[in-house]
Amino acid sequence: MAAASLSLLLLILLTNFRDQVLSLEHDFSYMKSVHNANDLPLEAQYDYIVIGGGTAGCPLAATLSEKYSVLVLERGSAPVSHPTVLNVTGFFANLMQQENGDNPAQMFTSEDGVDNVRGRVLGGTSMINAGFYSRANTKFLSESGVKWDLDSVEKAYEWVEETLVSRPSLAIWQSFGKEALLESGVGPDNGYTLNHKLGTKISGSTFDDVGRRHGAVELLNKGNLTNLQVGVHATVDRIIFSTKTSSPSAIGVIYTDSKGKSHKALVRDKGEIILSAGPIGSPQILLLSGIGPSSYLSSLYIPIVHSQPNVGKFMADNPRNNINLIIPFPFDASPVQIVGITNDYYIETVSYSLAFAPNPTPSTLLPLASSSHLSVASISDKFPGPLSHGTLWLASPSGAKAAPHVRFNYFVNPADVFRCVRALRKIGQMLETKSLDRFKYEDFKGSRGFLFLGPSLPANQSDDSSMEAFCRSSVTSFWHYHGGCVLGKVVDDDFRVMGTNSLRVVDSSTFSKCPGTNPQATIMMLGRYIGLKMLRDRR
Ligand SMILES: Cc1cc2nc3c(=O)[nH]c(=O)nc-3n(C[C@H](O)[C@H](O)[C@H](O)COP(=O)(O)OP(=O)(O)OC[C@H]3O[C@@H](n4cnc5c(N)ncnc54)[C@H](O)[C@@H]3O)c2cc1C
Ligand SMILES: *[C@@H]1O[C@H](CO)[C@@H](O)[C@H](O)[C@H]1NC(C)=O
Ligand SMILES: *[C@@H]1O[C@H](CO)[C@@H](O)[C@H](O)[C@H]1NC(C)=O
Ligand SMILES: *[C@@H]1O[C@H](CO)[C@@H](O)[C@H](O)[C@H]1NC(C)=O
Repeated sequence: MAAASLSLLLLILLTNFRDQVLSLEHDFSYMKSVHNANDLPLEAQYDYIVIGGGTAGCPLAATLSEKYSVLVLERGSAPVSHPTVLNVTGFFANLMQQENGDNPAQMFTSEDGVDNVRGRVLGGTSMINAGFYSRANTKFLSESGVKWDLDSVEKAYEWVEETLVSRPSLAIWQSFGKEALLESGVGPDNGYTLNHKLGTKISGSTFDDVGRRHGAVELLNKGNLTNLQVGVHATVDRIIFSTKTSSPSAIGVIYTDSKGKSHKALVRDKGEIILSAGPIGSPQILLLSGIGPSSYLSSLYIPIVHSQPNVGKFMADNPRNNINLIIPFPFDASPVQIVGITNDYYIETVSYSLAFAPNPTPSTLLPLASSSHLSVASISDKFPGPLSHGTLWLASPSGAKAAPHVRFNYFVNPADVFRCVRALRKIGQMLETKSLDRFKYEDFKGSRGFLFLGPSLPANQSDDSSMEAFCRSSVTSFWHYHGGCVLGKVVDDDFRVMGTNSLRVVDSSTFSKCPGTNPQATIMMLGRYIGLKMLRDRR
């Protein structure tokens, strides 16, 4: 059968993970610190205020609560309100939800026209992601401009891992993906390791062996819950400053509860405010608070607190180009468990299941017509960086409810196109391996080929221009977007907002490149690392 493309429109996503009986419960101890913002005082004081209870915010807040009172303000709900975030079966379901204002996965489309999503729940995007856990490449740390204490980095990673990370048992498609990577030359086989190493490896997962998700929210349990207050349904609109000092000092925040009531939270003497609202939320809140490009803020009549041209700049998203194979037999769904790592690109795999509408049945599906759903196996490319970047700007100057606009400018830098082409050529080689041959179909004349869902690679993979065109036309998001409050541009090497006092940004908005193959390990490490450093520096 000739390779055929199918329209996704004909297909309705169905999750087909094995039914999992969870033998152990999640640890919900942190719930005793969680309050609906409607029930929080209209004005109160804390030592630290963390804006955004996400991937970086949770480990940071837990760490600060060991010694001081901490308020975390999170716009989303607690995970118990959204059971889909608590297990692997929910992964695809979360991404398929219609926007209703309270989903844990908030959809957005960048100005590039590419669909994307971010977390809106306590635990942040770590509660809706694919669970793959891999530490940063050493270059990420050494080139960041921060003088990392590598021993503390190691300990901070371990602090996260002992609570959240398991070694996955490989799903069928993941083992074939691993074999195909090795057979096409992405060696050596590094077995199971959390470290970034050239070759092919199995990495950790925040899904445990029965499919339970252990997101950043569980790190709250490691803090002193007596000192920790978490407000959910608390949308921070802006930071307030005192201008008594020569440079502005952050003294509190204004946030809105679900009834639209405005609250004020203030920090005590020597306290600080830490923005951990992620790459869309953190630059948005700085702009709303009057820290950003002065002519831009003036044009929106936002009073300028500190002129900072780089807020909302260097917004980058790692492109993902997927090759999807329809598999001729039933197949386990799987989140990412393996990765092939080269200097130029990374390759990861997922599998899932689709139900197809019987009418009209595409003729290419006739061999499958007896079954009501299809197994799909994907191979995705990613590359370091990217070097292309864009800008974030506000949709509304009053309040954080309105999601900002963002443009990532995929592939404007030719080096990104070059790496994408190299990655796709490797995927082309993987499709020629013996390991993947069993996933081909045979037509009536006995010739064999894959059945593709969506685009297949260009027929002539040595032709640069058709490969480059394919990179651009098939681009989707790897969801590893970052930037907007970049280190060395907006924050200094202590993650303090330059030109201000008592204000830091600690999350992936400070990154100018994605750490390693996947960022969450390093984002959680960062929360713990900076939290401990703040405790030490204050003593
Ligand atoms: C579908 C998907 C799959 C992914 N898969 C993986 C993977 O397998 N492995 C991996 O390593 N990475 C993965 N990632 C990426 C990774 O999850 C993110 O990079 C990371 O979680 C971002 O962390 P953060 O702390 O910077 O932001 P977030 O975790 O997004 O935290 C920001 C928090 O701030 C809150 N917030 C924002 N604005 C406000 C406001 N105004 N007031 C109050 N609260 C606010 C948000 O609700 C959110 O909880 C994936 C991402 C997605 C979307
Ligand atoms: C897993 O998530 C699904 C939603 O996709 C939910 O219906 C199911 O109850 C959850 N299972 C467990 C054991 O929590
Ligand atoms: C937690 O904080 C409370 C209140 O500050 C304090 O009394 C208690 O000793 C702390 N617990 C631990 C284990 O440090
Ligand atoms: C493939 O593309 C290369 C480079 O453009 C070209 O030289 C070659 O002739 C093409 N091969 C085929 C079979 O078209």
